[in-house]
Amino acid sequence: MRVREAGMDYADSKRKSNVVGKILFAAMVIGLFFLVLNQSSSFNTPSPFSHHEPGVTHVLVTGGAGYIGSHAALRLLKDSYRVTIVDNLSRGNLGAVKVLQNLFPEVGRLQFIYADLGDSKAVNKIFSENAFDAVIHFAAVAYVGESTLEPLRYYHNITSNTLVVLEAMASHGVNTLIYSSTCATYGEPEKMPITEQTSQVPINPYGKAKKMSEDIILDFSRSSDMAVMILRYFNVIGSDPEGRLGEAPRPELREHGRISGACFDAASGILPGLKVKGIDYNTPDGTCVRDYIDVTDLVDAHVKALAKAIPGKVGIYNVGTGKGRSVKEFVEACKKATGVNIKVEFLSRRPGDYAEVYSDPSKIKRELNWTAKHTDLQESLRIAWRWQKSHQNGYATPSGTASS
Ligand SMILES: NC(=O)c1ccc[n+]([C@@H]2O[C@H](COP(=O)([O-])OP(=O)(O)OC[C@H]3O[C@@H](n4cnc5c(N)ncnc54)[C@H](O)[C@@H]3O)[C@@H](O)[C@H]2O)c1
Repeated sequence: MRVREAGMDYADSKRKSNVVGKILFAAMVIGLFFLVLNQSSSFNTPSPFSHHEPGVTHVLVTGGAGYIGSHAALRLLKDSYRVTIVDNLSRGNLGAVKVLQNLFPEVGRLQFIYADLGDSKAVNKIFSENAFDAVIHFAAVAYVGESTLEPLRYYHNITSNTLVVLEAMASHGVNTLIYSSTCATYGEPEKMPITEQTSQVPINPYGKAKKMSEDIILDFSRSSDMAVMILRYFNVIGSDPEGRLGEAPRPELREHGRISGACFDAASGILPGLKVKGIDYNTPDGTCVRDYIDVTDLVDAHVKALAKAIPGKVGIYNVGTGKGRSVKEFVEACKKATGVNIKVEFLSRRPGDYAEVYSDPSKIKRELNWTAKHTDLQESLRIAWRWQKSHQNGYATPSGTASS
């Protein structure tokens, strides 16, 4: 199976992941049991999550057990928001939720609800039992290559589930939405950098499903007074600088993985090396160029978007550094960050890869006063690698939960 990301190929990375998957699933079920038990201690008293409280903003974070969602939940909790995470754990990690619960154990700070956003009855029940002030909708399947293999899954999970969330918000009077979109909605624009005015012509089901979701949200916003912020992320890297959270995709998803995951897998010996496809692009060093945004900066953009969301208004923003980095540059930074001389094989181009993608982030700077601060690639990768090294089985290892 082949996946395309910034000119890299993970085609040889199939693994025997069935056993690991079963062990992870069993651990997840046990963990979920204890988590629910933990939360059920307050069954007899009215839940603080069920009513609005002056001065407290209650945010529903869908996909909050995932990579970006968990980092966002951590930042929101630090900033005194009340947070409800809804996740079906299809891709996220209960371990990440447990880290957050250990950090914020006080009543009324964080609750986790295990639910599938495709189940509109369950979603409506959640909205009728909880008083949300805003929704940050992260939950999604999010691998370009996988989307070309399973397009219906992507349209269902991304587009149809966004409709479910939006309908629930409309019928329960929740009026602020921050939506996770992607530069994949732009497709392959000829002119760089990409501005929010660049035409959106997505070229894969992932990008198309996100663009359809954006369209649904925009159409709805025209007939409502919902406050909407659509954030189009570029390539997200890095992890919590304090080492509490990281990126831990399920082992079976690694073959669809992203460039930093592939570099770390090569550095830790899980992959024999990296294959860089295409060294004759019209770029400074011939390899593809992408815009890598640190997750700490990305979640900061969400907090700023949330603070500046205005009823009846829509804000659409690119979230990137504005600077393109080549695959060669990325690999060199990864070698330095990990201290491993990763073996790199340079191969010929893959059809369909485009040379350069990077953002023009001036609109978000102008309107939300946001700029990327963590722009040292090597430093972002060093922080992420530190977490990877101490969590070799992601959140599943005892060290993964204890040390965090
Ligand atoms: N990681 C990136 O580089 C990147 C770039 C652009 C946009 N995005 C967007 O950011 C968002 C988060 O991405 P991520 O990298 O954290 O992915 P992730 O897979 O780590 O997290 C997604 C989370 O959503 C949950 N989820 C998926 N389907 C669900 C459903 N039907 N019901 C409930 N929960 C469900 C998963 O279990 C997981 O916890 C996605 O919307 C993605 O499209 C990510």
